[in-house]
Amino acid sequence: MPGADEFFSVLAGDLEVARAHLDLRTVPLGPWPGVPEPDRPVVRLQLLEVASGYWGRGIGRATVDHLRFLHPGTRLAAVSVQGAAGFWEALGWDRFEHRDGRGRLPLYLAPDSPSAPLARPASQVRGRG
Ligand SMILES: CC(C)(COP(=O)(O)OP(=O)(O)OC[C@H]1O[C@@H](n2cnc3c(N)ncnc32)[C@H](O)[C@@H]1OP(=O)(O)O)[C@@H](O)C(=O)NCCC(=O)NCCS
Repeated sequence: MPGADEFFSVLAGDLEVARAHLDLRTVPLGPWPGVPEPDRPVVRLQLLEVASGYWGRGIGRATVDHLRFLHPGTRLAAVSVQGAAGFWEALGWDRFEHRDGRGRLPLYLAPDSPSAPLARPASQVRGRG
């Protein structure tokens, strides 16, 4: 499906400090029961990675805000890797446990409405692909 994947680099000068991959194909939410019937298309954030030397500076939050800004009318979802749950919770995303229980990764879903106005798009976030 052309145009179904979007790849982003967050640049500080010439240095890539974060990257993200959005999959715009429909997400099957079956493995995470309890997710309310989405009121809008759900798109999956397949990858979000901030360079470790840049953690804790708001780059992860700003990148997610920017992706939401680029896709109004959708809800972003992410399957959280180990250790990242606190990040999604700090962003106010809703957590859903995998139907196979402990040891399987939870799904996080962006809230219906942002709790604060979304950040203006950062000019240094460039899409590719
Ligand atoms: C998780 C990750 C993206 C966070 O990026 P970051 O730029 O450091 O995050 P931010 O500085 O924007 O933090 C936003 C909020 O999340 C919190 N937070 C960030 N990482 C956290 C963590 N691992 N555990 C708990 N809270 C965390 C921050 O304290 C901050 O809270 P606040 O706004 O209330 O002060 C980054 O650590 C990373 O790339 N990790 C490795 C890959 C990964 O886990 N990716 C997640 C994909 S599922």
